[in-house]
Amino acid sequence: MEYDEPLFFRVMQYAARADRDVVDMVSGNPDWDAPPALRDGLHEYADAPTEAFQYPPSEGLRGLREEIAERRNVDAAQVVVTVGTAEANYLAMARALERDAGDEVILTDPVYPYYPGKTSMLGGRATFVPVDDRGRLDAADVREVASEDTACIVVNTPNNPTGAVYGPDTMRELADVAEEYDALLVADEVYDHFDYSGRFESALSVDSDHRVVTSGFSKSMAITGFRVGYAVFPHDLVEAAKTRHMLVNISASRPAQQAVLDALQGTPAEYYEETRDMLRERIDAFTDALDAAGAEYTTPDGAFYVMARFDGFPGTMENVQRLIDEAGVAGMPGEAFGESRSDWLRFALVTPRADEAAERLADYF
Ligand SMILES: Cc1ncc(COP(=O)(O)O)c(C=O)c1O
Repeated sequence: MEYDEPLFFRVMQYAARADRDVVDMVSGNPDWDAPPALRDGLHEYADAPTEAFQYPPSEGLRGLREEIAERRNVDAAQVVVTVGTAEANYLAMARALERDAGDEVILTDPVYPYYPGKTSMLGGRATFVPVDDRGRLDAADVREVASEDTACIVVNTPNNPTGAVYGPDTMRELADVAEEYDALLVADEVYDHFDYSGRFESALSVDSDHRVVTSGFSKSMAITGFRVGYAVFPHDLVEAAKTRHMLVNISASRPAQQAVLDALQGTPAEYYEETRDMLRERIDAFTDALDAAGAEYTTPDGAFYVMARFDGFPGTMENVQRLIDEAGVAGMPGEAFGESRSDWLRFALVTPRADEAAERLADYF
């Protein structure tokens, strides 16, 4: 079986080879600094005793699992510390598909491309439910396609790429659908610290033994390279997930887990607020400049991506390459996220040069 390499890599490689200055708005790699407590934790770790350089408990450092459990108001036994949210999603989807409860995975269109990739890798079959122009998911549309074959419903809120934040009613209804068809609702909340609408509420507030919540610290602490995330499983599914995690990875990196724990304990709320304020300003500056460029765009309620549409310039790989070469701006082709946004381009606001990029786009168009 062939695995599809995510398109991100092709775009990033193309931009890196370009013969000119390019503002990189391709991937979700934050450009802002990690919390100071995380750096302090890492410094300290270098002098830790030899035992601290050996395998941690497979399910994660106990202190980190307890800290996560307390913050998320769940039982620490339900928490598995994973190699990023990426592995948490993989474990959750694998568990859903291995339960002999169907092989269909319901995803949204547009979609975070790793979900359909993981679905086919795990032998599942993806069914896509379109969201509306503003990225809103109608749970009734999910109910309409769901059946006894449905093993899993995967949603992401706040959403990449649309910026939508799903309300608690939607999450409750999705959990109801999962319960009705003995499926698992997987809620990827990796952007949970990036809600500008005040409407975000974790799926953990929905009481159901048919939902798994996944998240991580890549975005909230600006540490995509650390690879620390977690999943909160229902009690009856957690042991099997822990075993798969052990067989695939043994554990997530111990120094990274410890540094994240130190950062959780030593970082005031202002760190996250300041990051949100900075991103809000970026979103405003970027979308103002898109107005000047005559583009249609989405203003995100959460996460840090803006989708834009330029008249007569569909979001194909070819056009993305043209923008890199001719405008000096690198984004993602909308077609990477599914059929519904193939006219659009996605720009990640992870550069202080976002307004400069928008000016380049305005000049170009
Ligand atoms: C929706 C979504 N889920 C998961 C991930 C991966 O997160 P992590 O770095 O925690 O594995 C990303 C990264 O961009 C993402 O956008």
